[in-house]
Amino acid sequence: MRRVYFDNNATTPLLPEVFEAMQPYFVEHFGNASSIHHHGQETRAAVERARESVVELLGCRPSEIVFTSGGTEADNLALFGLARPGDHLISSTIEHHAVLNSCKQLQSAGCEVTYVPVDGRGVVDPDDVRRALRPNTKLISIMMANNETGVLQPVEEIGRIAAEADVYFHTDAVQAAGKVPVDVKQIGCDLLSISGHKIHAPQGVGALYVRKGTLLHPLFYGGSHERSRRAGTENVAGIAGLGKAAEIAKRALESGDLLRMAEMRDRIEQTFLVEMESIGVNGAGAPRVPNTTNIYFDYIEGEALVIALDLKGLAVSTGAACSSGAIEPSHVLTAMGLRPDRARASIRFSLGKQNTPDDVQFALDLVPATVARLRELSPVYGRKQALST
Ligand SMILES: Cc1ncc(COP(=O)(O)O)c(C=O)c1O
Repeated sequence: MRRVYFDNNATTPLLPEVFEAMQPYFVEHFGNASSIHHHGQETRAAVERARESVVELLGCRPSEIVFTSGGTEADNLALFGLARPGDHLISSTIEHHAVLNSCKQLQSAGCEVTYVPVDGRGVVDPDDVRRALRPNTKLISIMMANNETGVLQPVEEIGRIAAEADVYFHTDAVQAAGKVPVDVKQIGCDLLSISGHKIHAPQGVGALYVRKGTLLHPLFYGGSHERSRRAGTENVAGIAGLGKAAEIAKRALESGDLLRMAEMRDRIEQTFLVEMESIGVNGAGAPRVPNTTNIYFDYIEGEALVIALDLKGLAVSTGAACSSGAIEPSHVLTAMGLRPDRARASIRFSLGKQNTPDDVQFALDLVPATVARLRELSPVYGRKQALST
């Protein structure tokens, strides 16, 4: 059966070039990067080469990159590394759970957190951030691109507000890196998270940019790896993969590949909007990363559509999380003001560099018919049809 993967915001396939860059560090070059002998020097060199590639992608210095086990750890390191009981933090209602649940934990440990809202397009108003500042505000953590909608946040303005107030600014750029230019100086952030597996590197590796002079408490205690900011023997193969993926991501930003991706994404949206009734794009009108579209299909359950499409070979996802048997509507979509039933009827299509116009055609052929079939089974849709005839 033909399978098309449109869930690249969940994870991306490892690129062959990335796999090739990692392979020597499993068997051939196995040294501990802290060892002073030949074997250690080989792997140390690989780690430092990868660091240079991440530096090139983010526009910072090598000493400002801390390799982590992924985006979640990078977010945790930023927040727990800075916040102390009595501190006030500012975040938003649409953050990834890596930030939201860190904030919740910090609240139970004696920090105060203000969650700024978003408008109907899913965008934070920088003035809300400014108004939320207090004398004890230590950190602002607002994501660069949302994982469910792809909506970009005004991080440069927030960076200016943070600088004026002399408050640290962290941005979760996990879903922005490789899709839009990410330059830490332009953003004006002190901390920025990225994750390998969202840019075609393996799962289980990521990085946190930490601006020079930012004193972070480590999450782990152990050796003095990563300038004492992240103890633990380095995941050399993973880091080598992240380095190669960063290099490829940087090239893609300059190559026009992302424009082609945006064209494919736009074709999906335009075709669906013309061919189907009672649908709409969540986050329409806001600046977005080029690979993501989040669409509501009224009168259906998103979960049912995901399963029906998967049975036909198309992998997409809902923004909804499944907890203890009850499907909660997405916190991102409800924060944007969507009714719970509409939030539950929403599906995310997220494209990757491996996708082709043929993949798009596959989705265009499949989705309208599947939505129509599911709506036939919906009593609410049946009533609506009866009323309109
Ligand atoms: C915006 C955002 N932040 C953080 C993460 C967590 O990254 P990781 O899966 O590398 O822990 C994700 C992953 O879905 C994400 O989309």
